[in-house]
Amino acid sequence: MPSVLIVDDDRKIRLTLSIFLERRGYRVRDVASVKAALTALKEFRADIVLSDLKMEGESGIELIAALRADYAAIPVIIMTAFASVEKAVEAIKMGAADFIVKPFAPAEIEQLLARTVRIQGLEAENRNLRAVLGQNDILTRSEPLRRILAMAERFAKSEATVLVLGESGTGKSMIARRIHAASPRSQGPFVEVNCASLAETLLESELFGHCKGAFTGALKDKIGRLEAADGGTLFLDEVSELSPEGQAKLLRFLQDKVFERVGDLTTRAVDTRVIAATNRNLRDLVSGKGFREDLYYRLNVAEISMPPLRQRRDDLPVLVERFLAQAAARNGLSSIPVLDDEVNAQFARYNWPGNVRELQNVIERCVILAGAGRITMEHLPDRLLTYPAS
Ligand SMILES: Nc1ncnc2c1ncn2[C@@H]1O[C@H](COP(=O)(O)OP(=O)(O)O)[C@@H](O)[C@H]1O
Ligand SMILES: [Mg+2]
Repeated sequence: MPSVLIVDDDRKIRLTLSIFLERRGYRVRDVASVKAALTALKEFRADIVLSDLKMEGESGIELIAALRADYAAIPVIIMTAFASVEKAVEAIKMGAADFIVKPFAPAEIEQLLARTVRIQGLEAENRNLRAVLGQNDILTRSEPLRRILAMAERFAKSEATVLVLGESGTGKSMIARRIHAASPRSQGPFVEVNCASLAETLLESELFGHCKGAFTGALKDKIGRLEAADGGTLFLDEVSELSPEGQAKLLRFLQDKVFERVGDLTTRAVDTRVIAATNRNLRDLVSGKGFREDLYYRLNVAEISMPPLRQRRDDLPVLVERFLAQAAARNGLSSIPVLDDEVNAQFARYNWPGNVRELQNVIERCVILAGAGRITMEHLPDRLLTYPAS
């Protein structure tokens, strides 16, 4: 059953609602102020917040604003007296999911809660559906990649940590999303962290969260991506870039499913599955002491190696067709451009160091230059024209 955080300065209302909802099987926490609500949310994983609109000295609108910053996914239902329905409308504009006018019958609030939970679920489902149908639609004609996709489907059904290897642009991120979408966790969040994108200390706090005062600039408690991915999947891209401390914390999490936020003593547990990716040779990094051996063996319980595009040239035609159609749509063309034979031949010869991403970019460029006309050699970037260098 969903969990509900009740925020109201009226003790009687809190009590009545808590008792009613608890009897109905909801997990309930109740607090009397916006500040208490924000504190409670650090411990209490609410699916819905049910908040009074006017409380002593503060308003539910402030709560919505604060929640939007840190807990954007939690819907807020506003409870309001009839006299301030206008305020409730303002609350909706601020991002509240719905409102209910006081006094209300318990059955009314129950219906509203059920509906809100349902809508949340549908939205999550829609997002996944879009992901599966659109971006996550992995095209291939090549036998090795097909076998890899079949293996990914099997890994998806398990809880195993997956390590995705492959050059940049080979589809590592895509397959990670695919595994999540095909897993029993597909309704949960898919959270991505690129370990190369942040400085060491920031990355640790981004991943594991921190508590107020953990370092200069840590003005309040913050949950990390690992916690944000609770019930879902955490995708650690460029995992080779993790600092030794980050590696140690990740290893502990993979072994025992527990961790601490930076600067915090409380040990926490979350139910997050990890998928990691790298374009480096991790085995080499391990022997060069750049990466912990024990972590490597924890990560590669299930390993997927994405082949470079030059080793699966039979994929070129389907990919080209797809990217041409996408680029045409993006650039507002009414018909899909055609490639000269010469261009196709050059595509088939080229070594594609940037793999599928490079192909996608080259086609986008061609479509911008050629419009709806034929794409000829003159539209290709120099590196393609001069390949192979003589
Ligand atoms: N087999 C494929 N079918 C369709 N699109 C693909 C395929 N492989 C990669 N792409 C696209 O190529 C781009 C690069 O893929 P991505 O997963 O980001 O690669 P990586 O994470 O390995 O760098 C993305 O836009 C992705 O949608
Ligand atoms: Mg990627």
